[in-house]
Amino acid sequence: MRTTKLVDGFRQSAPYVNAHSGKTFVIMLGGEAISQPTFYKDIINDIALLNCIGIKIVLVFGARPQFNEALIESGIVSEYHKRIRVTDDETFSRIKQVAGALQLDITARLSMSLSNTPMQGAEINVVSGNFVIAQPLGVVDGVDYCHSGRVRRIDVDGINRQLENNSIVLLGPIAASVTGESFNLTAEEVATQVAIKLGAEKMIGFSEVNGILDENADTIAELTPSAAKLKVNELVKQKSTHSSTIAFLNAAIAACKSGVPRCHLVGYELNGAMLQELFSRDGIGTQICAEASEKLRAAQISDIGGILDLIRPLEEKGLLVRRSREQLEMEIDHFVLIERDGLVIGCAALYPFAEDNVGEFSCLAVHHEYRDADRGALLLDAVVKEAKKQKYDKIFALTTQSIHWFLEQGFQLANVEDLPQQKQQLYNYQRRSKVLELVI
Ligand code: ARG
Repeated sequence: MRTTKLVDGFRQSAPYVNAHSGKTFVIMLGGEAISQPTFYKDIINDIALLNCIGIKIVLVFGARPQFNEALIESGIVSEYHKRIRVTDDETFSRIKQVAGALQLDITARLSMSLSNTPMQGAEINVVSGNFVIAQPLGVVDGVDYCHSGRVRRIDVDGINRQLENNSIVLLGPIAASVTGESFNLTAEEVATQVAIKLGAEKMIGFSEVNGILDENADTIAELTPSAAKLKVNELVKQKSTHSSTIAFLNAAIAACKSGVPRCHLVGYELNGAMLQELFSRDGIGTQICAEASEKLRAAQISDIGGILDLIRPLEEKGLLVRRSREQLEMEIDHFVLIERDGLVIGCAALYPFAEDNVGEFSCLAVHHEYRDADRGALLLDAVVKEAKKQKYDKIFALTTQSIHWFLEQGFQLANVEDLPQQKQQLYNYQRRSKVLELVI
């Protein structure tokens, strides 16, 4: 029976429902995202949905554009020193009003429970409080920052208690200090510190465009902290980009370096982008993570199921020679593979013919959805390295349909007689594979 789109999608997302449930996500809601008409409708509903499936959520909202607008309206001109706002009394009293109003609005929206909306029956508890303790930035170069501050300490136990009860913790850019005053912080700093101290699984942010773009304006799927740093420098030079994107990137770099496994940036104008990012293997936005999500490694017994899933379709098409599970079990040490979030997306093997000082490069397969980047060449590289370690003079391969690919990789056509004796005996004259070899 044909499956419906819903069934397909539901099945595909299931591994991530499992992976994410019970984990802590810090979601950074920048002021720009909040000011979008879609925010209160789509993004808030999607956050409620994450809460429903047992993800522990800390929301941190920022309000830079809202502050700026309110200050202009009130005729207050903010002073800046080293690109940080000096929050004097007049400024502070105005921005407290704005931040307070936003907190109430977001809380109200998360409390909504109208029928015919995705929030029907959700009954979410939203908790705000003095979970973040601030301290003043103080006087720098003779400039008193007044009520501008930074994070001093985070009440990790207090937040965790709320999260255990399935409440959403809502934090803003203003926090109290031990002296009974309050201070203006950046939401990015609050989000980063909270994510690090809570040991969060993810920090998620929203940007005007969908994540970070490359020179062709395509979204970059994955950045390491060092690649993200280069991108920050580039964006700072261009000046055209939203400073919030730069602020999030910097926050993500800091979070990753302090052990938050993955940070994600998605577009706020793309309806459902956060869900697509979280519940699909490839996501949709930019992921910043210390460890690449694709790993090339030696295969183990537990990978056999994954390898079989990958090679069976190719065997059925006659592109690979059929291998039984038992055979694979015995030969598993010859295999290398590329794994992406638990899925085997590529494999190859090096069969030893030690007496002849050669190896056979065999069973090369790449998942059909991942054929764009040259993962085949990556697997060949790994096999060549291993062959060199074994001190082989060359490797050979048999192929019926990928001759050009092998030639491109530097292989040359050879004859059946060039194969090791043992292999010649097994050569299938009906299959008539071409013999190729690569001197290493
Ligand atoms: N859904 C997965 C996760 O939440 C993978 C996302 C991959 N995203 C990307 N932009 N490469 O961790």
